[in-house]
Amino acid sequence: MNEASVQHLKPLSACVPDLKNRARKRIPGFAFDYVEGGCNHEAALHRNRQALDAVQLRADYLAPYSPPDLSTTLFGQDYAAPFGIAPLGLTGIVWPNASLMHARAAKKANIPYVLSTLSTSSIEDAAACAEDNFWFQLYPPSDLAIRADLIKRAADTGCKNLIVTIDVAAAGHRPKDIKNGLAIPPKITPRSVFQSALRPQWSIATLKAGLPQFASILPYMKDLSNIQDVANYVRNTLKDVVDEPMLRTIRDSWQGNLIVKGINHADDALRAVAAGADGLIVSNHGGRQLDAAEASINTIESIKAAVPEHIVVMADSGVESGVDIARFLAQGASTVFSGRAFLYGVAAHGEAGAEHTIDILRDELQQVMSQLHCTDTSQIQRHKLNRNTE
Ligand SMILES: Cc1cc2nc3c(=O)[nH]c(=O)nc-3n(C[C@H](O)[C@H](O)[C@H](O)COP(=O)(O)O)c2cc1C
Repeated sequence: MNEASVQHLKPLSACVPDLKNRARKRIPGFAFDYVEGGCNHEAALHRNRQALDAVQLRADYLAPYSPPDLSTTLFGQDYAAPFGIAPLGLTGIVWPNASLMHARAAKKANIPYVLSTLSTSSIEDAAACAEDNFWFQLYPPSDLAIRADLIKRAADTGCKNLIVTIDVAAAGHRPKDIKNGLAIPPKITPRSVFQSALRPQWSIATLKAGLPQFASILPYMKDLSNIQDVANYVRNTLKDVVDEPMLRTIRDSWQGNLIVKGINHADDALRAVAAGADGLIVSNHGGRQLDAAEASINTIESIKAAVPEHIVVMADSGVESGVDIARFLAQGASTVFSGRAFLYGVAAHGEAGAEHTIDILRDELQQVMSQLHCTDTSQIQRHKLNRNTE
């Protein structure tokens, strides 16, 4: 990893909460709220944090010690660490080209990078940056030709891992975004203009780059003349509700690994496996979709126990530190994704911030593994204590 070039950021942002504080001061309030917010009353968002904090790990100080090795293998590919960058939509409002910054940083550090269908960078551009670390997340369009084309474009880049997100049957109800006018179509309000004016670096960067677009789906919108048409298109054509039969049809059209994201209990996990999934991401979308959802950290153990051993079980939601990654690994995750932390990273420090976020999480995880006397990531499960959450 690129230790030397981002070392200077350590005293400025020593941990993810530092990145978040800095991000708050560098980007307009509506962009910060979009990243930070959860849905409805933000109960699921807070539940993720509380449930992670409740997971305790036991150190075996007098057991044999050797320095920790963070490397891991997923679907036959070696990665330098057991965490990756989660799919993130509308990244361009946080910082222009944020997704490409993430993709390059992930490649450099050799961790997985997942591009969202609704990123503001295209499949081709992001894949060129992330190379063989490129994964693609699909929101399946109801238009079958467009769906097939998106899948083909991902395959054409050499992408081997397709993630289908299942927990967006309805758009998340996020009061902060509604109040900020952050909807489709976006509304330019006096408030958003005022907030932008307070963040001149962000405004200049955004003016230079132009207004963010959904770059991967732009080619299908050619005949749409105004913003209302685009809005209707995204709402009605692009997204479709995913159920088990739809997963089967996607399975039939994709040769690579099929990963289902948004699993929160064993029944859905078994439906995904029956439809042909190779991997699962246990997730409640970072508390952005269903406010009554259980915390992922509390559901992963039973999901892992329910599915066959060859299914790769990964997880996200609430990761703000290497300690949180260790907590998920202790519950049986093969790898762990983080979303907001990486957006705070680029909002705080630009591209160097993407690399720095990886460094923070990696260094913290290494420190925890040393404390536990874990030589490799698979050993962390031995250090989990019975939880005391109820
Ligand atoms: C700003 C933002 C945009 C997101 N966009 C997407 C998306 O387009 N597709 C998707 O599958 N998940 C999306 N997610 C969910 C993340 O992939 C991930 O599940 C979540 O961020 C994990 O929680 P964390 O932010 O606490 O790490 C988004 C999350 C955030 C914060």
